[in-house]
Amino acid sequence: MRVRRYTSADRPACLALAHRLREGVAEWRDPGAVTATARDWLARSLDLATSDLSPAFVAEVDGRVAGVVTVSERRHFTGTAEVHVAELVVDEGLEGRGIGSALVRTAEEWGRTRGLRRLSLETGAANHRARSLYAALGYQEEDVRLSKDIAGAAASPIEADGAVEPRTGEPDGSPLASSRTR
Ligand SMILES: CC(C)(COP(=O)(O)OP(=O)(O)OC[C@H]1O[C@@H](n2cnc3c(N)ncnc32)[C@H](O)[C@@H]1OP(=O)(O)O)[C@@H](O)C(=O)NCCC(=O)NCCS
Repeated sequence: MRVRRYTSADRPACLALAHRLREGVAEWRDPGAVTATARDWLARSLDLATSDLSPAFVAEVDGRVAGVVTVSERRHFTGTAEVHVAELVVDEGLEGRGIGSALVRTAEEWGRTRGLRRLSLETGAANHRARSLYAALGYQEEDVRLSKDIAGAAASPIEADGAVEPRTGEPDGSPLASSRTR
């Protein structure tokens, strides 16, 4: 296996891996929409990948593309510039051989050559395989996004006019009671 810089000749082989990017996306998300959007994201990253500012790297096994990682520089909200990995994907028939790790290390090396000191990325909470890989490589989990299906929730305390009913037994002097509009 060798890792090298992506060229536009690799585009079809890379896009053929795009469907795997839905791995670990929450079960309540529309799988068709996830697949389509992930493909668009990868296609856009590959469009930009001929630039040194946002390259991609492919892993090649027996002359065939076995995986791809797309990288760029991104500014964290604290102002620090860091490497961002947008997409990482390995052919499912070739998983567990260190290809994913090699691609992540290549992204890290690219960042180091640019003087960047941190790499960040996002992945699905249910993407156990990817999370194991990142943990094994020393990545720490930094942010957590929460979501809940609120469509079928029990009756809300907010009435039609927007007033909030106090909880049963709530004292009159409680902050909730004083925020009532009637
Ligand atoms: C995540 C992914 C890139 C990993 O690629 P890979 O080539 O299999 O990764 P590696 O072979 O380098 O494995 C590295 C680590 O992953 C973990 N791992 C590998 N196989 C695993 C398995 N079957 N179950 C759980 N963890 C596993 C281990 O921590 C492993 O380290 P170890 O083998 O030293 O114990 C690949 O599974 C993939 O493309 N998944 C679909 C797309 C995706 O989820 N991308 C990441 C989104 S950010």
